[in-house]
Amino acid sequence: FNVPVPVNEPVLQYAKGSKERDLLKIALDKVYATTLDIPMFIGAQEVKTGETGSIRPPHAHQKVIANFHKGDKSHVAMAISEALKAKENWENTSWEHRAAIFLRAADLIAGKYRYDLNAATMAGQSKNAYQAEIDSACELIDFLRFNVKYMTEIYQQQPPVSPAGSWNRVEQRPLEGFVFALTPFNFTAIAGNLPASVALMGNVVVWKPADTQIYAAQLIMRIFLEAGLPAGVINLIYGDGPSIGEVIFKHPDFAGIHFTGSTKVFQEIWKTIGENIHLYKTYPRIVGETGGKDFILVHASADVKAASTAIARGAFEYQGQKCSAASRVYVSNAVWPTLKELLLKDVASFKMGPVEDFSNFINAVIDEKSFDKLAKAIGDAKQADGVEIIAGGHYDKSVGYFIEPTILVTQDPHYSSMSDELFGPVLSIYVYDDEQFDETLDLIDQTSAYALTGAILANDRYVIEKAAYKLRNAAGNFYINDKCTGAVVGQQPFGGARASGTNDKAGSMINLLRWVSPRTIKETF
Ligand code: NAD
Ligand code: ALA
Repeated sequence: FNVPVPVNEPVLQYAKGSKERDLLKIALDKVYATTLDIPMFIGAQEVKTGETGSIRPPHAHQKVIANFHKGDKSHVAMAISEALKAKENWENTSWEHRAAIFLRAADLIAGKYRYDLNAATMAGQSKNAYQAEIDSACELIDFLRFNVKYMTEIYQQQPPVSPAGSWNRVEQRPLEGFVFALTPFNFTAIAGNLPASVALMGNVVVWKPADTQIYAAQLIMRIFLEAGLPAGVINLIYGDGPSIGEVIFKHPDFAGIHFTGSTKVFQEIWKTIGENIHLYKTYPRIVGETGGKDFILVHASADVKAASTAIARGAFEYQGQKCSAASRVYVSNAVWPTLKELLLKDVASFKMGPVEDFSNFINAVIDEKSFDKLAKAIGDAKQADGVEIIAGGHYDKSVGYFIEPTILVTQDPHYSSMSDELFGPVLSIYVYDDEQFDETLDLIDQTSAYALTGAILANDRYVIEKAAYKLRNAAGNFYINDKCTGAVVGQQPFGGARASGTNDKAGSMINLLRWVSPRTIKETF
């Protein structure tokens, strides 16, 4: 089991005048210069149906950068059939060969396709250059490389005890059937990782990305094929989620779902799987990373400058559209006046605009539906008693879906935006009485229907320990003196519990174990 020990992919900085900035700009110009015609990938075939949807940059929605061909139920059935056809060969392919394909894909992304994939993410999902780089380059490359290491750890687990005259062993077999990978708009790395991690363990996959992610997803699919992935191992389809689901979840060979997306959709899917459970040959694996309402808690002992940076970046990088984004903050009244001043200055320094101007920190939110939801929440806050908007509050969708980074301070810790996931650049702050720190810990825990990420900023060790214990179930990823975004593969396995998911930690051995079905063999001599 001699595989390269992974090192996290270095992050390129795209500084002014750098070669990498020029190359990324060329790649971005290429995206805007053509209207790509994007097929589905079923078996070895590129499939075009003529029934198309358009892809428009969220920051310039009058432009069409691609059209994608939508499938209907017959294409879903075809994708399942191609996956099942590929299954026997793929699961009998040696682990080294499977590993080599995904390691090669990682190298292709790190080299030949880095700028193209970043440009696809920037234009398609409205990410600035840095956010694209840490997502579609570094995080995806890390997922692909680290998963190979975790796979070898699974295959190298200590065998069971074998008394004299016998040999007991455990085979880590792929699941019986196909797996459905359903991916969200906000991370290209997640898009690539969900199907790849499942396939790495010898499974076959039908993959449907969010419509707003298809530009990047199709390029990842092409990279997997160029890296040597056999036909049918991963099949990429587009179309209406519920209709696709109807075919997938009624199929007897449905063996699992690797999902990242909203809590609402995951719960609907879980219910559907439950209703159809009698149809399946095997109990399906249900793995889902879902919504968040992530918190930052600032104690009176905190370094206030560090707190301001953590809040500003944690709340507003990628327009607050990270599942890990800080969207509610609890601040001690002992530090709030100083923190408020620093935070307003930090946020005022964020420029907003399209991704082509690399100095823009804030770009557009993903689509009109999201824009309207956020605009309504801001409008409601303007009308609400006891809520004050201290930054931002303006929005405009005439050219792109732009929402200013907005901060509201509420006197009511139960105000709706302190618990509802808005998924955008709207941060809610509650200032607590320093004497009520313990009660604030209880409040945070009790209002955490989600439990994805959370952070405490404090310098008092006793306080840090207490918060870490009291909030032990309120966040799957808990950060001490840092922002609550930016988990790095291999360093902070990522995932949440409660309404945030099954906590199977993306980029870890725990996750890969969900994609094997062990067989125990006893041989007697
Ligand atoms: P979404 O739930 O709207 O969509 C996810 C995927 O499901 C998409 O491919 C979509 O087309 C599909 N889909 C939607 N309805 C469906 C249905 N009824 N049947 C079958 N498929 C259906 O999520 P999104 O808006 O793309 O992503 C944002 C959400 O994802 C946020 O809630 C965010 O918190 C969450 N997220 C969580 C994590 C995590 O690790 N916990 C990471 C990223 C995003
Ligand atoms: N790795 C991403 C983050 O932690 C999900 O923000």
